[in-house]
Amino acid sequence: MALRVGVVGAGAIGLDHIRRLHSLIKGVEVVAVSDADPGKEAIVRTIVPSVHFTMSGGDLITRDDVDAVVIAAPGHTHADLVLTSLAHHKFVFCEKPLATDLTDAREILNREVAIGKRLLQLGFMRQFDERYLALKAIIGSGKIGDIGLLTMSHRNPSVPDWWTDELTVRDSFVHDIDVVRFLTGDEIASVHVRPAGRPSGRFDYADHLVFTVRTNDGLMANVELSVAMEYGYEVTCDVVGVSGVASLEGGSVVRWSSSGARHNGVESDWRERFGPAYDAELTSWVNSTLRGVATGPSSWDGFVAAHVAEAAYQSMVSGRETFVETVRRPEIYNV
Ligand SMILES: NC(=O)c1ccc[n+]([C@@H]2O[C@H](COP(=O)([O-])OP(=O)(O)OC[C@H]3O[C@@H](n4cnc5c(N)ncnc54)[C@H](O)[C@@H]3O)[C@@H](O)[C@H]2O)c1
Repeated sequence: MALRVGVVGAGAIGLDHIRRLHSLIKGVEVVAVSDADPGKEAIVRTIVPSVHFTMSGGDLITRDDVDAVVIAAPGHTHADLVLTSLAHHKFVFCEKPLATDLTDAREILNREVAIGKRLLQLGFMRQFDERYLALKAIIGSGKIGDIGLLTMSHRNPSVPDWWTDELTVRDSFVHDIDVVRFLTGDEIASVHVRPAGRPSGRFDYADHLVFTVRTNDGLMANVELSVAMEYGYEVTCDVVGVSGVASLEGGSVVRWSSSGARHNGVESDWRERFGPAYDAELTSWVNSTLRGVATGPSSWDGFVAAHVAEAAYQSMVSGRETFVETVRRPEIYNV
């Protein structure tokens, strides 16, 4: 029998996920969609004509014909929606961030631990991206020796008018926290956030933020994060080892030469860059949910990201390096 899914949030990524669940992934059916904006119903029906539409995420989650939930509403709504899903023991795929508030992230972790098994997969899709996986494989092969430094950039073309510097830390930087942990297998011990360049006036703080991260083993990562770069969407990562360097370069995979110049196209947004990774993460979620288990990035990964993001926010306010308190990983997240 197909997995019957309800999707909460039919915005940019929600509609994308509804399309891939409806048309691409086998063994799953989108039976219900919820969005606070009633205008989304007509758009959703162009993808899944027979879907049940409701404005209430809570009503959707508690429906008997919804076996599992995809949360793609804005970050500040995630905690309540996840807690409702857990209260009804429903498997849930939650877009990042797990929560925009550390207290909420801790509550989700505690509830899942009390249930005694994982029910949640978090949308840290870079772990499903072929280029990041290849980078991790090179590190693991020992070809560049023990690694010491990661130099990363994360550039978004634009953000909505209501965006704040705090969201850059709590909503965007969590992807980079995940990459540092995923590639190094180490936990983050401290973070220091600094503005780079003169503010253009578009944000309260600065257009470019530089995060300097240290891990427990003394590795460093330098992350440039710019949320409104206009030219396109790009993520890069150089991993420096004692005997070599491995690089995940930005830009499209294809390069071409014409009219006396070499071109390396830039993806326009996250959909273009990470489309296959979103396909892979949701395929994996559907398959594992049908087997009655949750795999991939977990509530623990989301909680740790919220914990480091809190330290990063404190650093942004104080201007000083901020240490991240060590937290014990609950048993259910040991793999
Ligand atoms: N993994 C990634 O790379 C990635 C990429 C984009 C977005 N995201 C995440 O996905 C989430 C959604 O982002 P987006 O870009 O699609 O935002 P969006 O603003 O385009 O869409 C959000 C939708 O949710 C609806 N909504 C708001 N409150 C709601 C509620 N309480 N219940 C139901 N619907 C509600 C809005 O009406 C809107 O249609 C965010 O958490 C964002 O960080 C992740």
